[in-house]
Amino acid sequence: MSLNQQARAILTGNDRGGYTLPTDGLYPFQWNWDASVTALGWMCFAPARAWEEMRWLFKGQWQGGPNDGFLAHIAFHAPSDSYFPGADEWGTDGAPGTEALRTRTSSISQPPLHATMVRWMWHRAQAISPQAAAEAAEQVRGLLPGLLAHHRWWYRARDPDRSGLVLNIHPWETGMDNSPAWDVPLARVPQATRPYTRHDLGHVDASMRPPQSFYDRVVYLMDFNRAQDFDPVKILASCPYRVQDVGIISILQRASIDLLALCAACAWDGDVQDLHSALARTHNAIEALWSTRWSQYVSRDAITGELLDVPTSSGLLGAYAGFRHDLGPTVAAWLAETPYALPSTRSGFPGFEPLRYWRGPVWQHVNMLIADGLQRQGHAHLAQAIQACSAALFEASGFHEYYDPLTGRGLGGRAFSWAAATCLHWTD
Ligand code: DGY
Repeated sequence: MSLNQQARAILTGNDRGGYTLPTDGLYPFQWNWDASVTALGWMCFAPARAWEEMRWLFKGQWQGGPNDGFLAHIAFHAPSDSYFPGADEWGTDGAPGTEALRTRTSSISQPPLHATMVRWMWHRAQAISPQAAAEAAEQVRGLLPGLLAHHRWWYRARDPDRSGLVLNIHPWETGMDNSPAWDVPLARVPQATRPYTRHDLGHVDASMRPPQSFYDRVVYLMDFNRAQDFDPVKILASCPYRVQDVGIISILQRASIDLLALCAACAWDGDVQDLHSALARTHNAIEALWSTRWSQYVSRDAITGELLDVPTSSGLLGAYAGFRHDLGPTVAAWLAETPYALPSTRSGFPGFEPLRYWRGPVWQHVNMLIADGLQRQGHAHLAQAIQACSAALFEASGFHEYYDPLTGRGLGGRAFSWAAATCLHWTD
């Protein structure tokens, strides 16, 4: 089977009718940013199924109340006991905004890639056929209210002071769970003392997963959120973990640009001036997150105001987001340092661990986003070099959750949807 056929088979195998598992067993529900990337993959060979993926994700969008527009990081469309923390752990049933939902959800979000992936899907549909383009236009119109509400939730609930730099309140919200960038702020979080049982270690070797001390803290934060009735004002006032993640900020910025483009293309007649204002605020504020030590953007601890001066791949998304600094020379240096790029943490940094989840491994969808940004910033050769690294990883190791940047070995979950989708997007 060709790589393309294998990638299609993975999406088909992970399909649960309307939504796609990231991989069976380890992640038995629909994940937020996974779904956006996966929909892009479906678009390459089953456009109707691609739009369905997005519609199913938005079935879990909270409506009304202080979290109007919130989109959770997990939509629990069907029960499964192979994952911790499952639906019962989050305590969201009956929370304000969930009354009309047709699916149960977690209480934290994830990087809002949706509008960008929807825009890419729409472009692809236009190349398929006039019929696919007409279907895409209708689907985009149907998704716009939910997308707009979600962006507004981020700007309202996670940046009430209009600083331009949205906050997150849980490392899982960044999607880059155990990144060394979160070590300092996470160290202040108390460890949960209640009993619970992890299931991830039954699926993946412990050397590739976060340690117990990490889990004790993310469980504490999950329970904290519930104890505050999920009220964003109460949470932001006292949550012991508040971080301005350059990854979420960059992805939101690009997605707002793409959302405005979608609104214009659909002749959307609602007022979107607030999004234009939010874009301008972020474009100016982001320069406070420039690291002169690493020549890239980094995150910031919103409690202490200190930069989290750690060179992670999320800080290379500045070109993708349209920020001012030229990231070409920095990415070129990263490319020269590891055989398989781009590691999630720069290999010379003391917190780099080549096997452990977001502390070093390569994530293919992040490569795709960074390469897109470099292409737009006029560094086509760097974009091609990243794509060549990704292609070598697919060839050598197939479709894994993540990959060792030193050996190219596939790590974490196997038969992984977003790796397959990234490959399809790049090769189909
Ligand atoms: C996990 O369980 O590892 C996920 O990344 C949380 O979303």
